[in-house]
Amino acid sequence: MPTALIILAAGQGTRMNSDLPKVLHRVAGAPLLVHAMKSGAALAPDHIVVVTGHGADAVAAAARDHDPDVIVVHQDEQNGTAHAVDQARAALDGFGGDVIVLYGDTPFIRPETLEAMAAARAAHDVVILGFQAADPARYGRLILSGETLERIVEYKDATEAQRAITICNSGVVMADAATLFSLIGAVGNDNAAGEYYLTDIVGLARARGLSATAVICDEAETMGVNTRADLAGAEAAFQARARAGALEDGVTLIAPDTVFFAHDTVLGRDAVIEPNVFFGPDVTVESGATIRAFSHLEGCHVSRGAVVGPFARLRPGAELAEDVRVGNFVEIKNAILDAGAKVNHLTYIGDADIGAGANIGAGTVTCNYDGVSKHRTVIGARAFIGSDTMLVAPVTVGADAMTASGSVITSDVPAEALAVGRARQVNKDGLARRMFEMLKSAKAKQRKEY
Ligand code: UD1
Ligand code: CA
Repeated sequence: MPTALIILAAGQGTRMNSDLPKVLHRVAGAPLLVHAMKSGAALAPDHIVVVTGHGADAVAAAARDHDPDVIVVHQDEQNGTAHAVDQARAALDGFGGDVIVLYGDTPFIRPETLEAMAAARAAHDVVILGFQAADPARYGRLILSGETLERIVEYKDATEAQRAITICNSGVVMADAATLFSLIGAVGNDNAAGEYYLTDIVGLARARGLSATAVICDEAETMGVNTRADLAGAEAAFQARARAGALEDGVTLIAPDTVFFAHDTVLGRDAVIEPNVFFGPDVTVESGATIRAFSHLEGCHVSRGAVVGPFARLRPGAELAEDVRVGNFVEIKNAILDAGAKVNHLTYIGDADIGAGANIGAGTVTCNYDGVSKHRTVIGARAFIGSDTMLVAPVTVGADAMTASGSVITSDVPAEALAVGRARQVNKDGLARRMFEMLKSAKAKQRKEY
């Protein structure tokens, strides 16, 4: 069945107390909106429509950044969830499949849950996602008789008896496009909020003799973000799941609660992650690699057998081949380190290719930036870069070459050559003794004067 996804993301999120539109606040490094788009992807939608309102330009940019094919429509005034869905009507004109509606501020709906809704659609015209609420608070209540969902009553409009119901509406709705837009066309705004409620389509469907039902999911999935506290709670919930998932996948986490994952972190089986490691977006660590304590990784790939840290920083474009060593206080950016290369101490490698088995001495810096442009450093296989070498890019050091410690390398070094780029040492006999005497007598003279 072809499917279209509509994500409602027009709300301001006043209670976030922020200049940033609510759906652009991040959990595990990705905007809430992207989490919603990723969960909707479970149904392999043919069209994705994002309904923007507050902060529309920024919200549209984030949506397109995640999926360039997304259709963005604008809701000028936030007149309710049905009105919001109605903004997608023209964009989906002629579309014959099913439509699923998600909220941009509800990041954790599981793929299995959406699949269960799609399965329930085989027997029902309208399918709603509900949950058993520990504290039903101000959620809409589901009025069920057996498997049939009769209608949804918003909290504001509910009687005391209806408020006692604890099965609540998550907001997720699924129906055939023609049915959905026809029902939405019939929704009025005669209610306590004066809004066009999407939830009213259930009662309207039943009045037309259509069938409706609810799929019930875990409350944790429907967690919505309305405040900074909710956002922190969503982050904690995400991290707890990510840690449990990693352990399940055969990753060793010595202190799971101190390891932070991004929405897309991939860790191979038998990877070992020591305490206090932070994964930003787009990191893959292969099976059997070790990330030692207090390391910060983003946008990088660590291959089998590599060891990173402690206290290492891998920035976007860092590609570590098998058995590479990156040690303490080393930063790697946009650089490819071939198998077995070692960069063990106090070093910056940026915009570089490091050959297999090369050894980069302590305090080495690739001087990649001239203040205007970035330039590349290429180091051949098995080259030995002496401690405190400045490699002024663009520059190439050949295979099996060496640089002397403290060198400033400004021109290419041929394979197997030794480059010395520093002043020659001179020893002045007795000069140190005379210097000390001079300095001591100057200090003694100063003391007398005070
Ligand atoms: C909605 C449901 C309620 C459900 C709850 C779950 C309705 C009428 N009520 O209530 O049954 O229990 O969600 O969290 O649907 N939005 C727009 N444009 C609008 C209005 C809303 O884009 O004109 C977006 C918001 O940005 C938000 C989502 O739709 O992402 C839900 O709107 P909100 O006003 O928060 O609905 P609730 O009152 O929470
Ligand atoms: Ca809400």
